[in-house]
Amino acid sequence: MDLIEITGGNPLEGKIRISGSKNASLPMMIASLLTEEKVELSNIPNLSDVTTLIELMKSLGAAIEVDQTSDFGGKMTCVTKNILHTEASYDLVRKMRASFWVLAPLIARYGEAKVSLPGGCAIGIRPIDFYLSILKRMGVTLDLKDGYVYASVKSRLRSINFTLDFPSVGVTHFFLMMSSLAEGESVLKNAAKEPEVEALAEMLNKMGAKITGHGTNTITITGVPSLTGTKVNVPPDRIEAGTFAIAVSATGGEISLDSVNSDEIDVLLNVLEQSGVEISRSKKNLKISADRKRNSPVNISTAPYPGFPTDLQAQFMALMAIANGTSVIKETIFENRFMHVQELARFGANIKLKGDTAIIEGIERYNSAPVMATDLRASASLIIAALSAKGKSTIRRIYHLDRGFDKIEKKLRSCGAVIERKED
Ligand code: UD1
Repeated sequence: MDLIEITGGNPLEGKIRISGSKNASLPMMIASLLTEEKVELSNIPNLSDVTTLIELMKSLGAAIEVDQTSDFGGKMTCVTKNILHTEASYDLVRKMRASFWVLAPLIARYGEAKVSLPGGCAIGIRPIDFYLSILKRMGVTLDLKDGYVYASVKSRLRSINFTLDFPSVGVTHFFLMMSSLAEGESVLKNAAKEPEVEALAEMLNKMGAKITGHGTNTITITGVPSLTGTKVNVPPDRIEAGTFAIAVSATGGEISLDSVNSDEIDVLLNVLEQSGVEISRSKKNLKISADRKRNSPVNISTAPYPGFPTDLQAQFMALMAIANGTSVIKETIFENRFMHVQELARFGANIKLKGDTAIIEGIERYNSAPVMATDLRASASLIIAALSAKGKSTIRRIYHLDRGFDKIEKKLRSCGAVIERKED
């Protein structure tokens, strides 16, 4: 297994092109299974989550070609003339929770599916109760046994009105895919408003779906009998952009981020400005400058979009742990998303946990340390700590990192970081 070695202390200086969004690519790739025609996606990031999903889609009958050779994003074409297999196995679904969403095209096009209960990052209980209610209400017969969901439906899916107890991103994606091929008009209330939901809805509309209200909390979908092929571009990854913005805030220096949608990380940029970072923004580009003085502490609470993203909480905590004072971070989305705390402590961080709240007493500077990544975004927080620590640190279990950050070492190295991947 590989590890990453970082010698910290260098400011980050340079330019980084932000890759296509992981969290938009995955549902957009799965949506390609909804049609028998050709779908072309560009700006696909080079990530192990993408590779895992391609493997799963191929196993279901999709003919997929991928070209990941360009530094300007990968291209994928997918043709699924027929769904040949309707089973998504434990081996593939356990690696990545988003795989569970293939249930939507399988049931909508084929009327039958056997999908393993999901895995993914161990950041909370992450139930699937909303998915199961939607399936049942749309007329699907369900049987849960041996760790699998067995689903079948005899006729076309029924349209429904559904109100989410919580604006779940995954469930909103799932609802959009299912109801696009259902009979009649469906309405989803308290829907997620994340940009990735908008990206999926826009793609589906280009495929002939009739979706309105995406980006607000009420989405209306009029089902159509079939969808067509399309050509779409995956939008930039706001979490990757936010991670680099936090990294330079921690190390000092100045980096330019290209190909970003600055508006989508407004909440983070405002918080960074409050903590003393200088930011100049245009629609597609950001310049972030930080001197080497300690940042001021700022309190945050994670929330659904447009609130502070839970996917940037760990990275922001790594910054606050070396701020000049005490800050408080509240995690409201996932109940177990503080696993990075004990690893940050190995770098010397002083963080106390009380339920869903972390109280962070800023220290002068991190020491280097050997640490272990515990989940995808947590691994980025360890990179940030190691980049700003004095001395050489090693980060193990970086397969978590490879799930969601495209060429992160190469990008950081181009900005002066001393970072290397080695075999353990
Ligand atoms: C997606 C993102 C993930 C991000 C998260 C929240 C992808 C591939 N992943 O994950 O990076 O951290 O959104 O922004 O896009 N819930 C239920 N019942 C359900 C489904 C969800 O109670 O049936 C709850 C979850 O336990 C959690 C909350 O809803 O507390 C939010 O989860 P959700 O938005 O569904 O996250 P994901 O779609 O899994």
